[in-house]
Amino acid sequence: MSTYPTLLAIESSCDDTSAAVIVNGEVKSNVTANQEAHRIYGGVVPELASRAHQQHIVPVVDTALKKAGVDRKDLDGIAFTRGPGLIGSLLVGVSFAKGMALTLDVPMVAVNHMQAHVLAHFIDPPRPTFPFLCLTVSGGHTQIVLVKDYMDMEVVGETIDDAAGEAFDKTAKMLQLPYPGGPIIDKLAKLGNPKAFKFPEPKAHRPLDFSFSGLKTSVLYQLRKKKLEDPNFVTDNINDICASVQATIVRILIKKLTKAAEMYNINQVSIAGGVSANSELRQKVNEAGAKHNWQVYIPQFQYCTDNAGMIAMAAHHQFLAGDFVDQKVTPLARWSVSG
Ligand code: KG4
Ligand code: ZN
Repeated sequence: MSTYPTLLAIESSCDDTSAAVIVNGEVKSNVTANQEAHRIYGGVVPELASRAHQQHIVPVVDTALKKAGVDRKDLDGIAFTRGPGLIGSLLVGVSFAKGMALTLDVPMVAVNHMQAHVLAHFIDPPRPTFPFLCLTVSGGHTQIVLVKDYMDMEVVGETIDDAAGEAFDKTAKMLQLPYPGGPIIDKLAKLGNPKAFKFPEPKAHRPLDFSFSGLKTSVLYQLRKKKLEDPNFVTDNINDICASVQATIVRILIKKLTKAAEMYNINQVSIAGGVSANSELRQKVNEAGAKHNWQVYIPQFQYCTDNAGMIAMAAHHQFLAGDFVDQKVTPLARWSVSG
């Protein structure tokens, strides 16, 4: 076994099947198969997701190894996402990893998906130094994380109801746009007026917590009312609706992130997770950074949404720390980044 390991990492927590190879802490390949089956349902259908993982996992792993130029026998370990996520989806990755680790007689590393989103910042330079703040915004989570070390993280604020990605996806569903709604709203918002509609910024009790469910309800009621007056209202105003919804979500996120930076007196600020691919969020965090003198870290697009590159990065540090699991390991639907 080399001092710096060669690892295969597998991600299957939701609807993307991904595999990556990391050598000496450098991600050599990151291959992801997206699932189209969920588009028409307005959200991920767990049963369809696990079946699609089963179909995708072998070709995705083979391609990741091939792209990295690494042979199975050169692997020092197998890493996989243990949670949080959909159990049926996670089971595919966990079982595959167990089989491969057993065959190759190498150790296994179990990675926390939300820690991995944060550690995506260490894949490419510029890399943050500890401590830094990370706004992790995905389909299932919205958290402000105080990152003290690779595996030492504290959630200092989080959503009390819907995640930011969910707010995008559920609004898109109301607008009869396909799943996932975030990228589509992002695209249409570029053509619309963000001030055309006013949506509330729901308040949470604790200063760094978020709430998005009131926003969704407000969009629903406003649209219902307007549609009674004009049945073509949504179609005729889709760009303005998307721009206004997106502006509200991004405003809420930036306000809380700014508050966190003040409260913790930290000037290294990052965003991660699927919603960090949003063009307005990327722009606004950069603007806030310029205003408040932050160093801002934003991952490359391929490491924002679910990917195994970030799992590989987390696994690298866990491997060096000797953090292994045995064949009895089971997936976890819930698992805090705080451990
Ligand atoms: O991190 P991720 O790929 O999966 C989870 O761990 O949940 O995040 C998926 C979420 C979805 O809600 C999707 O709509 C959102 O990220 N998303 C976006 C954009 N790209 C993906 N939201 C807004 N703008 C985008 N460009
Ligand atoms: Zn994710």
